[in-house]
Amino acid sequence: MTGAELYDKLKDVRISGGACAYTPEKVESMMPLVNAINALKKERNAVILAHSYVSPEIVYGVSDFTGDSYALAKDATTTTADTIVFAAVRFMGETAKILNPEKRVLIPGRESGCTLADAITGPDVIRLKKEFPGHTFVCYINTTADVKAECDVCVTSSNVYDIVETIPNDKIYFVPDKLMGQNIQEEMARRGVQKDIRLYEGTCYVHEEYDPEMIRFLRLKFPGVKVLSHPECSPGVAKASDYVGSTSQMIDYVAKSKDSQFAMLTECGLSSRLQVEFPEKKIVGSCTMCKYMKSNSLEGILRVLMKPRPEDEVILDEGTRLRAQRCIDAMFDYVENKIPAAKAAKARALETAEAVSR
Ligand code: 13P
Ligand code: SF4
Repeated sequence: MTGAELYDKLKDVRISGGACAYTPEKVESMMPLVNAINALKKERNAVILAHSYVSPEIVYGVSDFTGDSYALAKDATTTTADTIVFAAVRFMGETAKILNPEKRVLIPGRESGCTLADAITGPDVIRLKKEFPGHTFVCYINTTADVKAECDVCVTSSNVYDIVETIPNDKIYFVPDKLMGQNIQEEMARRGVQKDIRLYEGTCYVHEEYDPEMIRFLRLKFPGVKVLSHPECSPGVAKASDYVGSTSQMIDYVAKSKDSQFAMLTECGLSSRLQVEFPEKKIVGSCTMCKYMKSNSLEGILRVLMKPRPEDEVILDEGTRLRAQRCIDAMFDYVENKIPAAKAAKARALETAEAVSR
């Protein structure tokens, strides 16, 4: 890849009114790092997985797979590389390791936390399971391997509503995202599904910042704007939005929409991706940065490829890994087998009901 090719991708990225923008000189200065990483990747048979929230020079300069947390977990299972460099946050790297115990998983981020994953521990879940017997414990993918090891099924923002609806238990304990949990409660009520859903106290510090008043302001300032938000935002924000979905689902919505103006109530990386991929569409309003995702850098990626420190590598206890894998595999099973079957059964029931009433 040449500097001109990378600049051609990044030239439309403008965050915070242009405070974050790429010039040909800036991109050229990144090229020694980009080229060194791409060469080392081949030499070490490594792949780079990058979440859409990391900096655009990573997504468009060196990454092999970019997506939401569900797609990245799936991509991690398809690669034949020996090493996975996960430019995102630690729980995503852990997910890759849980699914690929034989591969080396490296984390280049300097601050690899996440306020959701840091909100709850495995022992917290063990205590809750004693307090709430008979509940199905559902964890958001934004949790550590220890937490997944104690839960029944994991979900991501792209499948959470369908999985919770399909679980054959009306008693659910959802951890750790309280706001996403409230969105699940609202969505189940909207779908006419009766479930007792208990919630924990975690929040994402990026998404909890948005409020419905901002959406009112956006609609006044940009008439006709389509407002998209992530299910980690509050139910008030979700209700006032035109679309709520995972990061990849939001990209798909913009790709298919005939509208021209969009406000993205999520991390700035998503606005950057849209500016690169749909330069004809206008992204308005402001976005918020996740310091954990943005602590990934080209320097960090090169460092872990050349000389990883012990803390850069994901190492999991095998017992924990196996129990956490069961929780993630349960999610894949819901998405690939159970949800389609439940939807087909619902459609058949509806057809029968219509036939009876005719
Ligand atoms: P997605 O699965 O939608 O990419 O979300 C991950 C995340 O951390 C959002 O804050
Ligand atoms: Fe965690 Fe929020 Fe950052 Fe996503 S945006 S990684 S949920 S802190």
